[in-house]
Amino acid sequence: MCGIVGYVGTEEASSILLEALRKLEYRGYDSAGIAMVDEKNELQVRKIKGRLSNLELLVQQKPIQGKCGIAHTRWATHGEPSDLNSHPHTDVSKSIAVVHNGIIENHAQLRTWLERHQVTFVSQTDSEVIAHLIDFHYNGDLLLAVTEAVKRLEGSYAIAVACKQHPEMLVVARKDSPLVIGRGASSTMLASDVPPLLCHTRKVQYLEDMEVATLTQDEVHIYNLDGDEIEREIQTIEWDMEAAEKCGYEHFMLKEICEQPKALRDTLRVRYKDGSLSFPTQVENLLVNCKHLLITGCGTAYHAAMVASYVIEQVAGLPVEVLVASELRYRLHIRKEGEVCLLISQSGETADTIASLRLLKELGVPTIALTNVVGCTLSREADWVLYTQAGPEIAVASTKAFTTQLLSLFTIAALVAKQERSALLEALELLPGKTQLLIDRQEDIQRFASSQFNKTKVFFMGRLVDFAISLESALKLKEISYTHSEAFAAGELKHGPIALVDTSTLVVALCTQPSLYAKMDSNIKEVKARGAAALVITFEDVHTFDDTADAIFRLPQTHPLFSPILSVIVSQLYAYYCAVLKGNDPDKPRNLAKSVTVE
Ligand code: F6R
Repeated sequence: MCGIVGYVGTEEASSILLEALRKLEYRGYDSAGIAMVDEKNELQVRKIKGRLSNLELLVQQKPIQGKCGIAHTRWATHGEPSDLNSHPHTDVSKSIAVVHNGIIENHAQLRTWLERHQVTFVSQTDSEVIAHLIDFHYNGDLLLAVTEAVKRLEGSYAIAVACKQHPEMLVVARKDSPLVIGRGASSTMLASDVPPLLCHTRKVQYLEDMEVATLTQDEVHIYNLDGDEIEREIQTIEWDMEAAEKCGYEHFMLKEICEQPKALRDTLRVRYKDGSLSFPTQVENLLVNCKHLLITGCGTAYHAAMVASYVIEQVAGLPVEVLVASELRYRLHIRKEGEVCLLISQSGETADTIASLRLLKELGVPTIALTNVVGCTLSREADWVLYTQAGPEIAVASTKAFTTQLLSLFTIAALVAKQERSALLEALELLPGKTQLLIDRQEDIQRFASSQFNKTKVFFMGRLVDFAISLESALKLKEISYTHSEAFAAGELKHGPIALVDTSTLVVALCTQPSLYAKMDSNIKEVKARGAAALVITFEDVHTFDDTADAIFRLPQTHPLFSPILSVIVSQLYAYYCAVLKGNDPDKPRNLAKSVTVE
């Protein structure tokens, strides 16, 4: 999604802003731009379609100077990627520049209304209306003009505004899109996410929905839309830049895959101390007394929810319903007695997950967020929050966030378990070490990928938790290698999908559920009879598939319900190496954004 940054301070801002945009590249973008108030108090704008290097070149050719500015990476929604549609957008007199992340839903009505007031638009974007609206309300007071303008916006926005009449001040506002303010020693910054701020400061303030703030070199003042000033605590970010750097790895994705043993250990340490589970008392009470657990999330987080549903139902006999958040928010929700909702989101900023949270809160369902980002919207709005300790996840394709979500969900399963609790806890403690054994064997997966990466069709199949991991594996592969990959519940194959299987197909069969080995073996034989090649992922001491599979990847032994944390690492590495072998950048897959803050 779009990324916004801003700087006001004592140093030349252009290189700081460009560097800050680099730290937001992972969000996905197709154009970039920068606006600055120069020493003559004129507003300078440079913007261009394409990668950040294009903008850097443009700024080299046509330098831009000043100590107060804003910048943007755009992920096109309204209007194609082009120089004109890139942000910042300005008012007609080029006094006010705006960068925007979000979608203005009533932009068409506002555009018509502004055109009636002699405003000429130059872009096809929804965002341009914001600059003109601020100008319309501007009467010498930029804060007031922004406040009045945002009152007229419907949809979502995080905006930053620079104005030539206020050369040492930026104004920001937000609704349903993230915005963090960084408090440096002699500068103030803003950004859509924390990483761009970390070279300058670890002290941050989070702007909340329907708030506006003025930022100067030394001061930040936050107001509600009625103009009342609000006190906001300054928080300290605990992780450092190193956590958000590649540290010698070729890609963030590989680094994050390899960080999983540590991320899992860190996550487990919070939930499991001195041989017993440790949850906030109210969360523990909610979960233990829950009669119906609803779990939601999007994409990979939804797959974590699916895995959890099998595990929790199995060990606790607790009914678990799993709904994808983009559906949940629009379907009729019938509240069940004793219902609790768990909302999973790495970023805590996913629009559909937040909308589902708000719906459930309105219905009076107690909500628990499971997220990786301290201070994110989901954590602030949910009744309770549990954090994964994955550290910053920069690569678009989620890896360590997923496995730490799984681990957290497994601790919940152990908490509510009616059977096998000590076996579960014993297995949980050993899991991080077992993931290291897999990471140490990444060359085996690389070798397999180098013989298979050109396959045009890859199907993953499995049953129960293996089906959930099949979905996640197919998602990972399609996201970064652009290979057509699908996942099937193995028993469903002969109800249709087997028609697609031919000699060009690779079938990856996940086989970690002992009671279903024989069934899976039959499914593998069925696809092999149609000419497919079959890779089996199973545990190290299983020999059921020795005569059926073309290749077998063996996982270290663990409790079968916890196999997803191991099997998915094989799929992550397979997807990663396929992407690299195909010449794709796995950190920035086409068309995708890290944080889906718009619908
Ligand atoms: C896939 C992926 C996405 C996210 C989804 C939800 O690799 O990263 O499917 O899982 O967009 O994002 P969060 O977890 O931030 O809500």
